[in-house]
Order: sequence, then structure tokens, then C-alpha cells
Amino acid sequence: MRITGRTAVMFILCDPVDHVRGSDLLNRRFAAAGDDVAVSPLHVLPEDLAAVVGTLRALRNVAGFGVTIPHKVAVVDRLDDLTDRARLVGAVNFVRRDADGRLTGDNVDGGGFLAGLAADGIAVEGASVLLVGAGGAGRALAFAVAGAGARRLAIHNRSEDAARELAAAVAAARPGCEVVVSDGDPGAVDLLVNATSLGLRAGDPLPADVSRMSPGAAVAEIVIEPRTTPLLEAALARGMRVSYGQSMLEGQFDLVRAFVWPDRLPPRVSEG
Ligand SMILES: NC(=O)c1ccc[n+]([C@@H]2O[C@H](COP(=O)([O-])OP(=O)(O)OC[C@H]3O[C@@H](n4cnc5c(N)ncnc54)[C@H](OP(=O)(O)O)[C@@H]3O)[C@@H](O)[C@H]2O)c1
Repeated sequence: MRITGRTAVMFILCDPVDHVRGSDLLNRRFAAAGDDVAVSPLHVLPEDLAAVVGTLRALRNVAGFGVTIPHKVAVVDRLDDLTDRARLVGAVNFVRRDADGRLTGDNVDGGGFLAGLAADGIAVEGASVLLVGAGGAGRALAFAVAGAGARRLAIHNRSEDAARELAAAVAAARPGCEVVVSDGDPGAVDLLVNATSLGLRAGDPLPADVSRMSPGAAVAEIVIEPRTTPLLEAALARGMRVSYGQSMLEGQFDLVRAFVWPDRLPPRVSEG
């Protein structure tokens, strides 16, 4: 990579920093697209977030920055504007810096997930979906899945209050989709989505029992590493179609690029 004074600079703000892979993906994809952009992770503690965002606002060759755990909600109050989808989800995972220093937050988790599903050949339209996990990523996926034409969205979460609150918010925002709180049984669904962090650590319990599902159904994962989590292993062993956490990460590239440079590429997948 050749970095010069003409290169647009981006960062990914996170704590801890060791697990970050998004910077590598963005650098590879920007280079492949012929864009003069360089991306680096920045290890930012929560108590330093306000100062770092203030500094990024002043740095004139910064085009934008990603935000990940634990800053996705905290960064909202530091920005000048939000896209509709970021406002709906209540969290931001990418910020554009305009030439005058104005900062606008977006959330491309949901759109990236839909693009990843499409790349893996799995349809959401008309599907009955069980979403396990109502944390930061789960929230984004719930609005995206319901907005992409799912017939029914059932939400299950370890802390049931979060599932109940999310189901009510999605039902209000996406009246075309039937949204319910679930006990976590995937027996009757077309698509099971793991939006928890279960699968990240060896020995984690499975987020749902895929042996209850029809072999014609599909399973999508948001955990990136390992690529084939025990949940996906179980689904593949039953001959089911799967979508990987890596596909969701890859799916965010076009959305980030189009958000920062709207003339470069339209988003491919509608979130409703
Ligand atoms: N593929 C991608 O592009 C992508 C993008 C974003 C995030 N991710 C990954 O998605 C995962 C979740 O991220 P997040 O930002 O949503 O985190 P988060 O806001 O902390 O939410 C974590 C979720 O996992 C659940 N959970 C955690 N431990 C559990 C356990 N032992 N049993 C049952 N449920 C458990 C939580 O349930 P409670 O509410 O009950 O605590 C919550 O629903 C992380 O692994 C992250 O790396 C991937």
C-alpha cells in the first residue's frame, strides 16, 4: 500500500483492539476498487472517546471512521447528524467526516448482513425468521430483516426484556412484518440468525438447537472468528444452507463506500 498526502485516511475506534479484522478487509477492498484510502484501528478507551472524536473532527484528511465495541451507542451524542437507519437502531458503526468537519453517523450492520445473506444465496423476503440476540448487532439485524420483507420475525434473547423492547420497536417501525418474542425454538422457521456472541469462545453453548429445524431451512451467523462456528457446523452436518459472519463483514464494504462517497456506488440491498 502506498500512503501519501493525497490518501484519504480512516480509522476504526475500539477497545479492546486485538480482535479487529475490519481494517484489513477495508484496506483490501479499497485497494481492489482503486480507491486511495488507508484504514487503521485505533485503541480508544471509553473515557477518551469524546476527545478522540473531537480530534478526528479537526483532521482534514480524515474521510471517516468505524466505531465498534464499546463505542457504538456512546458515539451518537458526539455527532452532528445520523442517517435514518442509525437513528432507528440507536447505534452507529460508521461515521463520515465532511470537508467542514461535520460528522454524520450511519449503521451498516443490518445492510451488511442482508448483503452477506444474498451473497450466500439465502433469501429473506417472505421468510419466517428467528433472531437470537437483541444486543447492538441484533438490533440492527432486526430492523433490517423486517424491512427486507420477512413475513415473520421472532426475537429471542437471554434477557427477555431486551427482546420485548426490540420486538415492540421493530413492530412499530415495520408494520408489514409480524414481530413476536420467541422462546428460542427454531422448529418452524425458514431462517435462524445468531446475533449473540455465542460461538466466539470454545465451549460456548449453541444459541439454538438446529436439529429441530427442517434441513431445507437456513442458518446465518454473525460471529466472524471462527469462520465455521459450532452452530454452522451443526447446520452443515444437516445439509442446511448457511451464511457466515465474514459475509456480513464483507457486505458492509459497499455501504461504507457509498456512505462516504455517495457518487461511487449505490447500496445493493434495500433495508426497506
Ligand atoms: N459479522 C459482523 O460483521 C459483525 C458485526 C457486528 C458484531 N459482530 C459480532 O456479533 C457479536 C455480538 O455483538 P454485539 O455488538 O451485538 O454485542 P452486545 O451488544 O454485547 O450483545 C451481545 C448479545 O449476545 C448475548 N449473549 C452474550 N453472552 C451470552 C450467553 N452466554 N448466553 C446467551 N446470550 C448471550 C447477549 O444477551 P443479553 O442481552 O442477555 O446479555 C446479547 O444479545 C459479537 O461477537 C461481535 O463480534 C459481527
